[in-house]
Amino acid sequence: MSQISLKDVTKRYGTLTTVDRVSLDIGQGEFVAFLGPSGCGKTTTLRMIAGLTLASEGSVCFGARDVTDLPPYLRNAGLVFQGYALFPHMSVAQNVAFGLEMRKVGGAEAQRRVIEALALVKLDHLADRLPKQLSGGQQQRVALARAIVYEPEVLLLDEPLSALDAKLRHEVRADLRRLQSKLGLTTIFVTHDQDEALSVADRIVVMSAGKVEQVGTPREIYQRPASRFVAEFIGMTNIFAGGVEPGGHFRTAGGESFAIPAGTRRDGISAFAVRPEQIVLRRAAAEDGADAGCLPATVEDIVYRGALTELVVRTASGMPLIVQRQNSDLPQADEPRPGDAVIASWPSGSTMLF
Ligand SMILES: Nc1ncnc2c1ncn2[C@@H]1O[C@H](COP(=O)(O)OP(=O)(O)O)[C@@H](O)[C@H]1O
Ligand SMILES: [Mg+2]
Repeated sequence: MSQISLKDVTKRYGTLTTVDRVSLDIGQGEFVAFLGPSGCGKTTTLRMIAGLTLASEGSVCFGARDVTDLPPYLRNAGLVFQGYALFPHMSVAQNVAFGLEMRKVGGAEAQRRVIEALALVKLDHLADRLPKQLSGGQQQRVALARAIVYEPEVLLLDEPLSALDAKLRHEVRADLRRLQSKLGLTTIFVTHDQDEALSVADRIVVMSAGKVEQVGTPREIYQRPASRFVAEFIGMTNIFAGGVEPGGHFRTAGGESFAIPAGTRRDGISAFAVRPEQIVLRRAAAEDGADAGCLPATVEDIVYRGALTELVVRTASGMPLIVQRQNSDLPQADEPRPGDAVIASWPSGSTMLF
């Protein structure tokens, strides 16, 4: 049985539908990320799971228990929400103990569990500090300890790392992932950051305009996006408008023709996409024709980005194409330069059609 089960969960504000018939099953111990642009309904969906907002329609179940109409404290979910700040006048230990007191756990038992929760987030040595005496990352960890101290069935986190700088975000999210799998906590993690979702989640739920666009593993979402929206939202993508010709090639609006994998669906296709890291550039030679999948282009821009180099090349029809190359090799004598004529190609199996 799923640990969390949503059936047609919908939220309306007057005539505005902000979450539209979201259905989803999350397994015991699974780590799921809700990912999507700002305003797509991630927080609202999570709030309905937490009980902070009531669904207009549909149902929310935790295991066999229908919690749709229960208040948050009867759902047994650990919450880290924006605006759920630490109490500034209470020590770290008191902040963490608060959830236990609400659940009538006190005395030595409460003390033991507070220390245990703080040890899990590696903050037991700071139990007596006030929140303002902690760094941002430490405060986020206290919020996490406060959410897990009463051993919730599920952990619901709304952009819990957004206030942290990049390095700290990396650290805390690794800690979070370790903690989550150690405790086997069923977790939903809301983020608008695709890197974060790809790196922590077992499965990603991509949302757009109140609806679920795709549910899948990070690999599935990245390699087999179900829609153009997902392809463009997750990672960088070169997209060409056009259509499939009777001969089985994709012809762009600008007239380029690309091979497509055998056996792909052909009707209703209006866009062709290829990821920047799939594209290989070689120097154009006199004998190069306009072979399908081999695209003559001119190097326009080269941007060094540390681990990789990004090149912008422009096709004969004027389409820009972004190409990424890993910077693991030593610099080579025939590095492309702006103005060079090149041939871009890619494995036809790496292409995506929408
Ligand atoms: N209390 C509310 N009343 C009216 N509209 C709301 C309310 N809360 C959220 N919304 C709207 O619902 C949509 C989804 O919001 P939200 O769930 O916060 O998105 P996300 O977390 O994905 O950024 C937004 O358009 C937002 O303006
Ligand atoms: Mg939000």
